[in-house]
Amino acid sequence: MVTRERRAGDVDYERHGRRYATVRRTDPRIEARVHAALGDARTVLNVGAGTGSYEPADRYVLAVEPSATMRAQRPAGAAPALDATAEHLPFDDDAFDAAMAMVTIHQWSDVERGLRELRRVARGPVVVLTVDAPALRRYWLAEYFPEVVALDEGRFPTIEQVTGVLGDEGGQVRVDAVPIPLDCVDGFGEAFYGRPEAFLRPEVRAATSGFGLTDPVAVRRGLDRLADDLASGAWDRAHGHLRAQAEYVGTMRLVVATP
Ligand SMILES: C[S@@+](CC[C@H](N)C(=O)[O-])C[C@H]1O[C@@H](n2cnc3c(N)ncnc32)[C@H](O)[C@@H]1O
Repeated sequence: MVTRERRAGDVDYERHGRRYATVRRTDPRIEARVHAALGDARTVLNVGAGTGSYEPADRYVLAVEPSATMRAQRPAGAAPALDATAEHLPFDDDAFDAAMAMVTIHQWSDVERGLRELRRVARGPVVVLTVDAPALRRYWLAEYFPEVVALDEGRFPTIEQVTGVLGDEGGQVRVDAVPIPLDCVDGFGEAFYGRPEAFLRPEVRAATSGFGLTDPVAVRRGLDRLADDLASGAWDRAHGHLRAQAEYVGTMRLVVATP
């Protein structure tokens, strides 16, 4: 296993990513949107590919993933993964039909450079799944973990930044809100909008980087409050309707740039 001396993004996946694939997996409803956005691309580069979520099985895929711990969790038969970073993609201009980056750009050391690299190596669509972070404040989780939400607001580039960079060289950029299903298979923070008990599980928090980067004392405080409110019924009185809400349109956005 080839491990980097310095991590590529703001999260140390060699330490915190060992159980990532047990919680973060492809959700088929979100996957259908991503694959539709890739259009008829036959060759696809997946950057910040992690354990392989959302990679299409019916096209030629090459993955770029700087964490050895994440690469090691890619299932047998998954696309090969290179140890590289978004900011320095080791490919020629227009080398792929399309490029994708799923829930990763907020971790890059230089988002603008990384997005320009995606644009450079793809002759067709660049497809980015990301979060409209200011909207996170409307999510009930912000009542319990304001520090996590404040931190994420600072980490995620704004949607305007992303569309600005990708639209810079012409072409069209579309932003679609991605509805999250109640039984979402991919365990990112908002996936549990109607299943609040999930946040009491350490492996769920570990798979959402904002928790790992926040002061553990603040996380403990929020957890205690959430556990109390679940036990007393206070959470259900305020938000219980979400337990039966089929979809939640929160902060998840699909940005699709076509040249
Ligand atoms: C939240 S994970 C998402 C993984 C996968 N795309 C998914 O949807 O599950 C973020 C990934 O971005 C990777 N990453 C961090 N900094 C990066 C960089 N500068 N270039 C490329 N990937 C990076 C991390 O190693 C990690 O695997």
